[in-house]
Amino acid sequence: MKYYLTTPIYYVNAAPHLGHTYTTIVADVIRRFKRMQGYEAILTTGTDEHGSKIENAAKAAGKSPQEFTDIISAEFREQWETLGLAIDRFMRTTDPRHRQTVFMLFDRCLKSGYIYKGAYTGPYCVSCELYASEVQVGEPCPDCGRPTEAVSEENYFFKLSAFQDRLLELYERQPDFIQPEVRRNEVISFVKQGLSDLSVTRTSLKWGLPVPTDRKHVVYVWFDALSTYMSAVEGEGLWPADLHLIGKEITRFHAIYWPAFLMAAELPLPKRIVAHGWLLFEQEKMSKSRGNMVRPEPCRRVVGADGLRYFLLREISFGQDGSFSFDALVGRYNADLANGLGNLTSRTLKMVQDYCGGAIPDGGDGSLSPELGALAARTVPEFIQAFENFQFSRGLEGVWALLGAVDKFIVERAPWQLAKSAEESAQAALRDTLYVAADVLRLAAVLLAPVLPVAAERIWRQLGMREPLDEQRLEGLAPRQLAPGQKIGEMRRVFPRLDMASAVQRMRTLEAAELARQAALLGKGAPPPEAAPEGGKIPIEDFAKVDMRVGQVLAAERVKGTKALVQMKVELAESEPRTIVAGIAEAYTPEQLIGRKVVIVANLQPRKLRGIESNGMVVAASAEGGLPVLVGFLEDVPVGARLT
Ligand code: MSP
Repeated sequence: MKYYLTTPIYYVNAAPHLGHTYTTIVADVIRRFKRMQGYEAILTTGTDEHGSKIENAAKAAGKSPQEFTDIISAEFREQWETLGLAIDRFMRTTDPRHRQTVFMLFDRCLKSGYIYKGAYTGPYCVSCELYASEVQVGEPCPDCGRPTEAVSEENYFFKLSAFQDRLLELYERQPDFIQPEVRRNEVISFVKQGLSDLSVTRTSLKWGLPVPTDRKHVVYVWFDALSTYMSAVEGEGLWPADLHLIGKEITRFHAIYWPAFLMAAELPLPKRIVAHGWLLFEQEKMSKSRGNMVRPEPCRRVVGADGLRYFLLREISFGQDGSFSFDALVGRYNADLANGLGNLTSRTLKMVQDYCGGAIPDGGDGSLSPELGALAARTVPEFIQAFENFQFSRGLEGVWALLGAVDKFIVERAPWQLAKSAEESAQAALRDTLYVAADVLRLAAVLLAPVLPVAAERIWRQLGMREPLDEQRLEGLAPRQLAPGQKIGEMRRVFPRLDMASAVQRMRTLEAAELARQAALLGKGAPPPEAAPEGGKIPIEDFAKVDMRVGQVLAAERVKGTKALVQMKVELAESEPRTIVAGIAEAYTPEQLIGRKVVIVANLQPRKLRGIESNGMVVAASAEGGLPVLVGFLEDVPVGARLT
């Protein structure tokens, strides 16, 4: 059985940020989940490369649109690869195969009479590339708020107005066509207000696909973009898609335009459109236009792809907006992955090693731990149901409740005490405890494989399982299927604990490096120095690039709404003191900082933290699991002195 799902195809006016990553990771999770349900799931993503926005971005970078889109599209593809996402098809709107599909669709709509030639005169939003007929020229665009401009153009129009009833019927007949409910209701009320015909070509646009029969017209962005869902799987018998996963801001295009285009072309409709909420950073939607982007790479380097995946699925209630922060990312990682799952794994396996000679003990019939058995048995179908309903956070919560119950059970049973007793009842309780704990880890590995593919595989191997994890099926998964006597594998920490302040600081430093690398890619600025290989050596010239100087804290205050951040004015013997934000508030009070001499990395690119621009970094030592300790001097050193 096939299951075809898609993400939106992303505009290439910016390199991938965490917003795009969120959608693509969720899609990858669904794909893996469906595979574990026995479907042959196929995931398509890609890049949306035509239109004036992209043309302008290319111009600003001094590149041709094709050169520019080649670079950014490759960035997306590579980023997904680096994150280990299982993308089956990657479609670009500049791909010649895509062109054929667009023409086929256009032609079918033309022949069926739903595309006709007309003229548009009125307001236009350059940024959204939308005719904004509901406002006057010069008034703000209803979507983005930027001022509209006047245009007058001959266009091909799509007769969207003819589809009002058929669309409403569709939403009625298939109540789950648009999810969640709040988006469905918005769409229905929008359609009920009546639909205007839609311009689907432009003559003012150069960077796009020309209409084959009328080459001065270029197919307009949405008609072009939506067709990738078909062109990506052309000739494979995969259409219609089972699921279009999208961000909520493009619901209208997917739930109204796209089914109408397909109805006009007499082609099958996608089965379901699911819109998620926005990832917010510093209280606003993360986006290129707001400039508040975080890139996935720094996060991956510090918490791993699994850590990022877990955070996004657990922290955000799917369908609603959710906030991202470096602190929250590391906080979740430490609490749920390092202390939770990771700790339970190493603790359990170590006890199996120490008390059972490294072989899974025989846990008997389960009658010694009926409650835990029942909880484990319930968790499996509840998890599956939650994931089927896109309630990822709830599903994960259920697994963590089970892990927590096992932790508690271990503490209550105290296997380290039981092991000291030779009595059969103590030995039976010991075997039962460790069997149950190991068996729950096995269940967790299977359930969590779609979300934590790397860690689940590690846990699976450490339990000594031989069959490939990705061939496991969710159907029939139940407690007590772990074979007693099985030798456990080599033990390795799954999620090492991170020191909060240094992990956050490292992500910020990596973020600045990533920004510089991407700018260099587009020919803006010098390429950043190659990062030293982990544990590798660097030449002295590289060290010399780091401008470290002695500074003195003139003022300090905690950044409101944060636990770790402190904002300081630091004197560096320059024309003006610098504002520096540092993650040291848990270790130092503002009073302790004022007047103190510190070491500052003075030539870091500025970085905004909580809306405050930080112009440098305070150097501190961070021991694993401990608070940061500021670097200082035993002798007095003048402010401004360089460290060499
Ligand atoms: N090219 C169009 C989509 C065409 S689909 C046929 C487009 N591209 S986009 O680059 O702007 O990407 C939009 C998608 O990226 C959103 O729908 C969402 O899936 C994802 N996100 C971008 N920023 C996001 C957040 N801040 N939060 C969550 N998702 C976000 O629109």
